[in-house]
Amino acid sequence: MAAAMQRRKLLILENDRALRRELEAVFSDLDVTACETSDQTLAIVRRTEPDAVLFDLGAAGEPAVAAQSLELLRQILNISPDTKIIAMTEHDARELSVAAVGLGATDFYHKPLDAGVLSIVVRRALRIRELEEENWRLRERTGAMALEGVIGVSDTMRGVCRAIEKVAPTNATVLLLGDSGTGKEVLARNLHRLSGRAHKPFVAINCAAIPDTLLESELFGYEKGAFTGAAKRTAGKLESAEGGTVFLDEIGEMPASLQAKLLRVVQERTVERVGGRVPVALDFRLVCATNRKLEALIGSGGFRDDLFYRISEVTIRVPPLRDRQGDSLLLAQFILQQLSERFGKPTRGLAPDAIRAIQAYRWPGNVRELENRIKGAVIMAEGAVVTAGDLGLEDPGDEPEYLNLRVARQRAEAQAVRQSLAVARGNLSRAAELLGVTRPTLYDLLGKHGIDAAQFGRHAPPAAGTPELPAKDNTGSGD
Ligand SMILES: Nc1ncnc2c1ncn2[C@@H]1O[C@H](COP(=O)(O)OP(=O)(O)OP(=O)(O)O)[C@@H](O)[C@H]1O
Ligand SMILES: [Mg+2]
Repeated sequence: MAAAMQRRKLLILENDRALRRELEAVFSDLDVTACETSDQTLAIVRRTEPDAVLFDLGAAGEPAVAAQSLELLRQILNISPDTKIIAMTEHDARELSVAAVGLGATDFYHKPLDAGVLSIVVRRALRIRELEEENWRLRERTGAMALEGVIGVSDTMRGVCRAIEKVAPTNATVLLLGDSGTGKEVLARNLHRLSGRAHKPFVAINCAAIPDTLLESELFGYEKGAFTGAAKRTAGKLESAEGGTVFLDEIGEMPASLQAKLLRVVQERTVERVGGRVPVALDFRLVCATNRKLEALIGSGGFRDDLFYRISEVTIRVPPLRDRQGDSLLLAQFILQQLSERFGKPTRGLAPDAIRAIQAYRWPGNVRELENRIKGAVIMAEGAVVTAGDLGLEDPGDEPEYLNLRVARQRAEAQAVRQSLAVARGNLSRAAELLGVTRPTLYDLLGKHGIDAAQFGRHAPPAAGTPELPAKDNTGSGD
């Protein structure tokens, strides 16, 4: 990999002209820019983004110059934080070089110039840069994120992960909204793992899986004799999470009577066991999740709005898999590899038709569905690779279509012309007005896209696939 790489970029900042020449010669195998430090230095850094800067900070006897140099060093790292800086100083300026390293320089070098030694120092810094890049590429390729068990390279998913990382250390109550199988529980576990409560329990309760009659005692616990069969005082799930995180999954399914009780618990951070009278103080962080539209549920009286505001101090929307560009294929490959190992079957790749099918499919069941289909395929597949058929998916055939910007623009333009003609019922003046162009321009557009305006005339049937424009655009006389 290293061999195929471009030549590394080195910027030499050296005010002594003769020395500059000498240094250029030492590093002639690199892509070298050499100059004095000046007002232009930062502009050069910005433009060239050097891999390394060999920076002559000056001598100890010139404090003003030294201060200026350190300030410049700081600014360089500000603009280009990955650049490796080697601070070069006069022999007597050790303190200056230490200060430089303190500000973020990678290494230092004390004059006089020994080409062999300096070369080693610079190349070592470049090697560090190379390793950092490799590490980056690896993370990109495997899609590994800081979150455990979360695979993805899409911008949408990166945004979600960043949000999780940010709120995790706080005590904020988090509401995770997303379709079934999008990974809400995985994210909830990461919220706990990345919080100060990580060493305390993570207690997950699925409100939909426990019958209404049992949910209350399950959550809040009960006193001895509270009901038939309550043989001894029993702590609820909330109590057992003491110091940790409570994950209330499918919160939208919680019955109304319990919602009121939960609201009190969340507000007062105390719980009363069923059949008990003494409130017990609790310390837990609450994370809730649902695939229901809570706002709609509130509208229809199915969910308390005061509870909603309490549990949604921070709301994170987990996007469906179809909105995560590039993730489905990556997840498929990752899961395939994991399952092949688990089932002791030799790693099989994905056949080209499977790759096409995975990208074209809409994944209504999201990551969970993807997991299930791949599990089935690993168990059942006979051949060396997993095919679309093994996944129970149809091969969409053609290569996925990638529109270049020109084609995309053309299509949008033609679409807009057709829409305006449909609304104007073929009236060219009106259509031109809707489009905000002159009549001659509209004529040109009709010719360019081969559109026949007469088709949209008064008595013509509405053209297939031409959606109505919004009502506000229907300002015409209205027939
Ligand atoms: N980004 C991801 N990377 C890897 N695996 C994932 C990812 N998201 C989800 N999964 C896996 O997919 C499965 C479903 O995830 P999870 O249970 O967290 O979804 P959910 O949103 O809680 O779904 P449901 O609404 O069905 O409860 C789990 O096995 C989980 O490990
Ligand atoms: Mg879940």
